Amino acid sequence: MNLTLKVWKQKNSATQGSFETYQVKNISSEMSFLEMFDVLNEQLIEEDKDPIAFDHDCREGICGMCSMYIDGRPHGPWSQNTTCQLHMRAYKDGDTIVVEPWRANAFPVLKDLIVDRQAFDRIIQAGGYISVNTGNAQDANNLPIEKAKADEAFASAACIGCGACVAACKNSSAMLFTSAKVTQLSLLPQGEPERKSRVLDMITQMDKEGFGACTNTGACEAVCPKGISISNIARLNKEYIRAGLIV
Ligand code: SF4
Ligand code: FES
Repeated sequence: MNLTLKVWKQKNSATQGSFETYQVKNISSEMSFLEMFDVLNEQLIEEDKDPIAFDHDCREGICGMCSMYIDGRPHGPWSQNTTCQLHMRAYKDGDTIVVEPWRANAFPVLKDLIVDRQAFDRIIQAGGYISVNTGNAQDANNLPIEKAKADEAFASAACIGCGACVAACKNSSAMLFTSAKVTQLSLLPQGEPERKSRVLDMITQMDKEGFGACTNTGACEAVCPKGISISNIARLNKEYIRAGLIV
């Protein structure tokens, strides 16, 4: 199939960007969205033009790098899916596809479709870890954990830190991401010792990075490629209030 692409080009965060229009030909419906970009970039390099900069690593829905806003939706039209898992069979011959970077002050554009998501790393560094010395790995049965809690912690741990929740939110809120990380640890006994400082420090860092507040629109949950539930945000708020009450 032949497609028209309107792609955001921007030299860096200090310059203004704009849309460039490209034609891509003979794209197979079997290709992934990123492979289609590879074809376009090879074509641009052959024509001695600047290729489109985009982030990617695993290309199998694990690393969370492939941040692209496709036709007004993070990660494109398929639900619970990353850009790298989107395939060209989602489109038909002659389609026009508009591709932009994540747009949020806390995620400045580095180049074209690549944004700097180190703000997420700093939130994790503020408390998204367990620092108690747990010694060698124990036998799993030594530490019984209720099945429902283990399942919930595991579901929250599925967050890949892609930032789609921030990009979709009108407030650029990072509450879904932060709540997933806080929930994952607060539900497990290993996370208990630092439960209070974790939530206070991660929320302080989240605010410092310039992410907005949650107003419960649910846009984050709707676009999350890992189906992280908005109920985690209620848990985050509960953890925050609890931490404030415990002296
Ligand atoms: S909560 Fe979902 S959308 Fe947000 S960073 Fe994690 S995986 Fe990505
Ligand atoms: S490239 Fe790793 S999740 Fe898409």
